[in-house]
Amino acid sequence: MMTKNVNHLISLANYSNEKILELVELGEKIYNSPKDYADACKGQIMATLFFEPSTRTKFSFESAMLRLGGNILGFSDANTSSVKKGESIADTIRCISYYADIAVMRHPKEGTPKLASIYSDIPIINAGDGGHLHPTQTLTDLLTIHKYKGSLENHVVGLCGDLKYGRTVHSLIKTMARFNTKKFVLISPEELTLPSSLKQTLKDTYDIEIEEVRYIEDVIDQLDILYMTRIQKERFFNEEDYLKLKNSYILNNEKIKNAKDDMIIMHPLPRVNEISYEVDTNKRAVYFDQAKMGVYIRMALIMKLLEVE
Ligand code: CP
Repeated sequence: MMTKNVNHLISLANYSNEKILELVELGEKIYNSPKDYADACKGQIMATLFFEPSTRTKFSFESAMLRLGGNILGFSDANTSSVKKGESIADTIRCISYYADIAVMRHPKEGTPKLASIYSDIPIINAGDGGHLHPTQTLTDLLTIHKYKGSLENHVVGLCGDLKYGRTVHSLIKTMARFNTKKFVLISPEELTLPSSLKQTLKDTYDIEIEEVRYIEDVIDQLDILYMTRIQKERFFNEEDYLKLKNSYILNNEKIKNAKDDMIIMHPLPRVNEISYEVDTNKRAVYFDQAKMGVYIRMALIMKLLEVE
């Protein structure tokens, strides 16, 4: 087994708060002046290896590399790669290392991007591994929070929906906990509560107040941030359980009428039906701008991992 001295982003647990803030600040600088970075990655190639569907993550990474003056190659259907013939991740990534300078991987199996990083000569970015982590979504979320709230600290953060399987929630909670979050309000049906190991870590390591409730309306007035998520159909073991829970939350203007004026509504997207379309024009809704921020934070990340100025 080879272990190379290469920068990767597999989990933000390996990134210090200073390093995370540096990325957020660079993302903001790029957002304010994208043209200044148009040639930052000229001549470099990024591979996107998507073993699971994606719109935002794949396209925003590709857009980010193209906006940095680099090039892209990759697949969005593993059936078109030699993995279909039985090739291992280790062999795949060894070869991709000859064709690209950096690789972005999404995989349904937890830990696969980590495995790839062990065999890779080039930086590997985890673009979502099963129900585990989605660190670049978290960076996108942090840039959005920083832009709208001016700081990552001292917020009451409500997370609503599928807190059991939602990897965006797991990544975000673990990271926000490190930035002095005032309180987490966990809003979910009993079947989809946050894994107890994660709750325990929050209590033991960070001593953060946690409140668990079933309904948004009961807590809406205390939130600074409401982070909605879809029920993760693809992680359920049977359809019946999913059907029972799929309409657990449908956010509308009536349900947020008692929200703080400056509360922001976030969602990693895609949405299914958990936010009514009428909310899109509510001044608190920032989820499409959040998707836009994904490009700028990923530009910052690519530059850092490739060590370009
Ligand atoms: N937020 C997010 O990961 O979206 P995609 O699945 O479309 O990439």
